[in-house]
Amino acid sequence: MGNEESTLMDENQTPVLEAPTVDALVKYIKEQNVKHVVVMVGAGISTSAGIPDFRSPDTGIYANLAFLDLEEPEDVFDIDFFRQNPKPFYALARELYPGRYRPTIAHSFVKLLHDKGMLLKHFTQNIDCLERQAGVPGEKIIEAHGSFATQRCIDCKVEYPDDKMKDFVAKSEVPHCLECNGLVKPDIVFFGEALPREFHLNSQLPASADLCIVMGTSLTVHPFAALPQRCSPGTPRLLINMQRVGGMGGRPDDVLLLGDIDEGVRKFARALGWEEELEAVWEETNPDPKDREAENAPPQTRDERLQDEVDRLTAEVDRTLGLSNAYEQRVRERLGELRANEPGQSSSSSSSEGLAHVFPHLAHKSR
Ligand code: OAD
Repeated sequence: MGNEESTLMDENQTPVLEAPTVDALVKYIKEQNVKHVVVMVGAGISTSAGIPDFRSPDTGIYANLAFLDLEEPEDVFDIDFFRQNPKPFYALARELYPGRYRPTIAHSFVKLLHDKGMLLKHFTQNIDCLERQAGVPGEKIIEAHGSFATQRCIDCKVEYPDDKMKDFVAKSEVPHCLECNGLVKPDIVFFGEALPREFHLNSQLPASADLCIVMGTSLTVHPFAALPQRCSPGTPRLLINMQRVGGMGGRPDDVLLLGDIDEGVRKFARALGWEEELEAVWEETNPDPKDREAENAPPQTRDERLQDEVDRLTAEVDRTLGLSNAYEQRVRERLGELRANEPGQSSSSSSSEGLAHVFPHLAHKSR
């Protein structure tokens, strides 16, 4: 649907950009004094923080749940499935719970847009709260798929205390409502649930944007996936993502920066002349005081700076390569712990038997 919309609309349209390139986009931003940027993001902007996305073939959450033989990995985020069996969600929740990760350079880029008075709205599908952590004010953020910030009973809707929730998530156990004993769920939008009111109230905003930036999303989940199409014809749209998605590139004023997001963001910032400011804004999110001390240390020689950059890149490559294995290992460990805590479970049971308490519908199917 997205591709058709773009193609049909584009035929008679005169491009606003001189060319669909980053340089032409930067020229447009400066000359037109762009001040109403709408940003739309997904899990891809948080992967370099160490949080897996959903659909990447090896490192994505859904691929890593496939080893559990779930018929539909998306069931973990399905409200009907959760009612029957909330354990798989809580086995994962600890991994995804906010507070353990540092915002990425992409989050800081959005903060920088805000600091420059250019951010109209930031639409995110992410539940990690990293844009807030990067300093983007709450009123500028639409958390389209909710967040872990609050939680409530799925039956009586009474809110559940944050501190208790934290404890349950840390133990990967399922919390129950203090009023009616119903299941408690974070205010994350599951499949089968309505999006927050704020999303619908603001979903026409892209039409008044003078620039749209889409980063780190496969644009597969609606209604979020339709947001870029709501930008007016002639409003430049920039996609920073590993691959082309959602018909982006189908309009004459679409600019594609395909590849790694951190690299793409840095490249765009460099072209804008914002590189140093961006790194400074990102450094504010650095929780390690040692790094801050290093920042105030005497200037390094060129060779020292080069060596540091090589070390940093090497560490980044190592970490990225290790992500898939480490993530799978952590999920396995957590499920193993859950299994060990179940009455009557022995550590020697086979993996499908051992997971039967977590995924009982699978156990029935395999018999
Ligand atoms: P996906 O996992 O579907 O898409 C992430 C996109 O980011 C993919 O196109 C990746 O190739 C890209 N990507 C990941 N890391 C990248 C990197 N370092 N550099 C460049 N590109 C990178 O995630 P979302 O689109 O956010 O919903 O998924 C949408 C929704 O589906 C989620 O909000 C969640 C899920 O089911 C619910 O849970 C309701």
